[in-house]
Amino acid sequence: PLERTFSIIKPDATRRNLTGEINAVIENNGFAIVGQRRIHMSRAQAEGFYRDHKDQDFFQALVDYMVSEPVVVQVLEGEDAIKRYRALMGPTDATKAGPDTLRGRFALSMRENSVHGSDSPANAQREIGYFFSEVEILPCTPEK
Ligand code: CMP
Repeated sequence: PLERTFSIIKPDATRRNLTGEINAVIENNGFAIVGQRRIHMSRAQAEGFYRDHKDQDFFQALVDYMVSEPVVVQVLEGEDAIKRYRALMGPTDATKAGPDTLRGRFALSMRENSVHGSDSPANAQREIGYFFSEVEILPCTPEK
């Protein structure tokens, strides 16, 4: 099915000027970037976004990192987008990620892993709604 997923280009990647390179990989793999904004997350925004991880020992460091530099928040559209973007990113632990995945190519560590992608349809819906209103998501008109 045609799906939408939520993506973040994280601070380690924006800091290294990798936004365009990551977006090229995304587009060349059959995703349309139908919503996109560069933001500097507030601490409250980052804590709310990652609320499911608040009991993890890495939570505080994760929030500190996510507010350290601007990020790019995105809505990606494509067939089977949620699963396919997870596959394109590779696993959280980039030492286990293939060289053709985004994290395999760009991640610096478990935390500084360059990109985020929704892990389920319910989370995709929540995460898109957390950063985007419906009028900011603009797919192109299909060709006639
Ligand atoms: P993300 O997919 O955005 O979801 C939660 C984030 O927490 C994850 O990517 C990493 O940035 C970070 N993270 C997950 N596990 C660890 C860990 N063991 N140590 C440090 N950071 C982690």
